Amino acid sequence: MAELKVLFATSEVAPLIKTGGLADVSGALPAALRAIGVDVRVLVPGYNPVIAQLAHHQVVASFDDLPGFPPARLLSGTLANAVPLLVLDCPSLYQREGGPYQNTQGHDWADNALRFGLLSKVAAVLGSSASPLAWHPDLVHCNDWQTALTPAYLHFAPGAVPSVIAIHNLAFQGIFPPATVQQLHLPPSCYSIDGVEFYGSLSFLKAGLFYADHITTVSPNYAKEIQQEELGFGMQGLLTTRSDHLTGILNGIDTDEWDPATDPYLARQYSSVNMNGKAVNKEFLQSRMGLNIEPDVPLLGVVSRFTDQKGLDLLLEIAPLLTELPVQLAMLGSGDAQMQKTARDLSHLYPGKIGVMIGFSEELSHQIEAGADMFVMPSRFEPCGLNQMYSQRYGTPPIVHATGGLADSVADCTAATLKDATASGFTFNGMTAENLYATIQRAVGLYHNTSQWEALRKNCMAKDFSWQNSAEAYRTVYLKVLGR
Ligand code: ADP
Ligand code: GLC
Repeated sequence: MAELKVLFATSEVAPLIKTGGLADVSGALPAALRAIGVDVRVLVPGYNPVIAQLAHHQVVASFDDLPGFPPARLLSGTLANAVPLLVLDCPSLYQREGGPYQNTQGHDWADNALRFGLLSKVAAVLGSSASPLAWHPDLVHCNDWQTALTPAYLHFAPGAVPSVIAIHNLAFQGIFPPATVQQLHLPPSCYSIDGVEFYGSLSFLKAGLFYADHITTVSPNYAKEIQQEELGFGMQGLLTTRSDHLTGILNGIDTDEWDPATDPYLARQYSSVNMNGKAVNKEFLQSRMGLNIEPDVPLLGVVSRFTDQKGLDLLLEIAPLLTELPVQLAMLGSGDAQMQKTARDLSHLYPGKIGVMIGFSEELSHQIEAGADMFVMPSRFEPCGLNQMYSQRYGTPPIVHATGGLADSVADCTAATLKDATASGFTFNGMTAENLYATIQRAVGLYHNTSQWEALRKNCMAKDFSWQNSAEAYRTVYLKVLGR
């Protein structure tokens, strides 16, 4: 019998539905936990793509009278990696054209409070004595604001198990008008500073941070940063008060999904002992992105959501200067309309030197990690960040702002770190275009020193970013919460 049973509630899970890193984590961490004996099951909403990819599902529960919510059902399934899945089926809330959080015009769904209120509520029911399932978790692990009401519902539910909330991004908080408290049938008393109230509104995230038994976040450095005003997004006071119950655990990466030796998306597979394929991928990427075929001009890759968080405005600002170094730029991303336009305009102004693809493409994201010489990620803040770890595994040294998980996962290249073989990329402090430019220049300098560049790539590829260590750390948190 498994020693520990955990319900993992999330609003996205790869490969079924993904807008960002939360999906990667939800797709991989549960499998890593299962590998060390934790019986984890993933609860996710039944959006169109989830329902479409769910083979042989069974209805395992119905919720016909949850106060305030439309009727819903629970379907059981499995992820490709054999992790058991519970899909929350409520067509009126989840089955629509558009993304998990926004419509096709990029506006938040007007009923997001109800949509993620239901997800949180059902997670809490499954973690209480009212659960209709035979499988009872010992603990509920929620993720980000979309499931952050779960600890609040659990707090007021009979026979409730403890909860852990993982912060993947403090910038998104699920803020709704005070009347939502009543709409979601939360007890009126919880609308207080010691509860779900946050500057005159209901905050889903605050509910989680306040009521969960333990808080985790996705890197040790970010766990410190969010207790400060600069990156605390107004929650620093609460987080500081709860710092004895706050643990930073660096994300891992799915090393099967992201393996240059087997990656089916690549033009040619390669490994640290046979790097020949990397040049083939570079040429393929240059051709796919409409760039000049130049084997010796360093190619910078970007795969990102286009938001203020990611700091790409700095990169776009210096892009014309970069083409003179020379370097080439291959960018994949979507989001902010102005940023998309600026990137597109640059690709027209510098044909053959700057290639831009607006959209979301799993395939191209792998091809950029493999085909680029360096990966650029100048995030203003970054709870963990996965791309800088993917790029290291693909022998593509990252250039990053030393913040959050970027600082925890990239070792700056210096004479000392080259000597002791720990160098794995380039980091800068001080979020300015000048600093980014100087760091790219530094990386380009090293690129032209073939033996040092090869040594740097080897260091990158030798690093262990697998989930195993992180999974152990989560299990330790679970056991602590349960007092075992
Ligand atoms: P965040 O979750 O803040 O966006 P992460 O680095 O943790 O940042 O994770 C982002 C994930 O989303 C990575 O797997 C990345 O490859 C992927 N991603 C982001 N934008 C795109 C895109 N336009 N196309 C394909 N994958 C993308
Ligand atoms: C968030 C963060 C990112 C992190 C990811 C997975 O989207 O922005 O830094 O890697 O969640 O934890």
